[in-house]
Amino acid sequence: PLAETVVLLKPDRLKQWLPTRSQASHKGDHGRLLVIGGNEGMAGAARLAGEAALRSGTGLVAVNCHRDSVVPVQFSRPELMVREWGALASAQKIPWADALVLGPGLGQCPAALARFREALSVPSPMLLDADALNLLAASPKKRTQQDCNWILTPHSGEAARLLGQSVAKVESDRFAAIRALQQRYGGVVVLKGAGTVIYDGKEMALAVVGNSGLATGGSGDLLSGIIGGLLAQGLAPMQAACAGVMIHGEAADSALAPGPRGMLPSDLLPEIRRWVNFE
Ligand code: APR
Ligand code: MG
Repeated sequence: PLAETVVLLKPDRLKQWLPTRSQASHKGDHGRLLVIGGNEGMAGAARLAGEAALRSGTGLVAVNCHRDSVVPVQFSRPELMVREWGALASAQKIPWADALVLGPGLGQCPAALARFREALSVPSPMLLDADALNLLAASPKKRTQQDCNWILTPHSGEAARLLGQSVAKVESDRFAAIRALQQRYGGVVVLKGAGTVIYDGKEMALAVVGNSGLATGGSGDLLSGIIGGLLAQGLAPMQAACAGVMIHGEAADSALAPGPRGMLPSDLLPEIRRWVNFE
């Protein structure tokens, strides 16, 4: 069947999408984001997502992670608030957040599964990535009422798992794959790669931005944090996804010199600012 028109995203669209910020604003005006992830040995994933959300203009960012990850996350970025899993009785509870990012370094152990289920039970807008997608693929239960306000950000391997197909099949027709994903799971789907496709069931957008410097572990965690931060600032899921993909790719292009080899996701953090203030 012939598809909907594919819109090629350009950076000047950012001007209409980006959250407004008044001269007299305070932190409460710019959203609260909770990142749930950072299992043992994967503190860095949650830290990158949290810091990317801060660099995207989010008012308050909290990380909920494994006990062993609390100190590393806290020390890496003093602006992040950090709580260990199971200590959610205190300040940064799930309902505290305007939006959630679920998955960076989450793992798939029983404690991770418990966090996953807990997060899915609230109606807040949320982004699912990495192990949250793997848990979703393995989960018999789909999110029901609220399935319009989530964003799934699979790479081809995660997309294949979510669809029960081979990676080769996904790669052979990425537009067909994203349509199937959106039909099955609802919400907004971001199918990542060199050329990222974004689809909400109505509009199909294509972002040809970024470079092979992004082919380093942790780049996906940055994208989750940027999009999650924009969701927390009140952007609609499709806008947050499109703007986030453009900011992420443009930040990578801004940081490209002297070449893609050795570029690290954390090198892109300061570049996010340039694009989230694009005029
Ligand atoms: N050109 C443009 N963009 C690229 C390129 C490229 N050549 N290579 C990668 N990217 C972009 C992708 O579009 C995506 O936004 O970089 C990001 C990579 O994200 P992931 O594939 O999720 O990679 P990663 O950061 O390693 O993921 C972290 O999550 O997916 C799991 O198993 C993975 O544990 C790992 C974790
Ligand atoms: Mg990833």
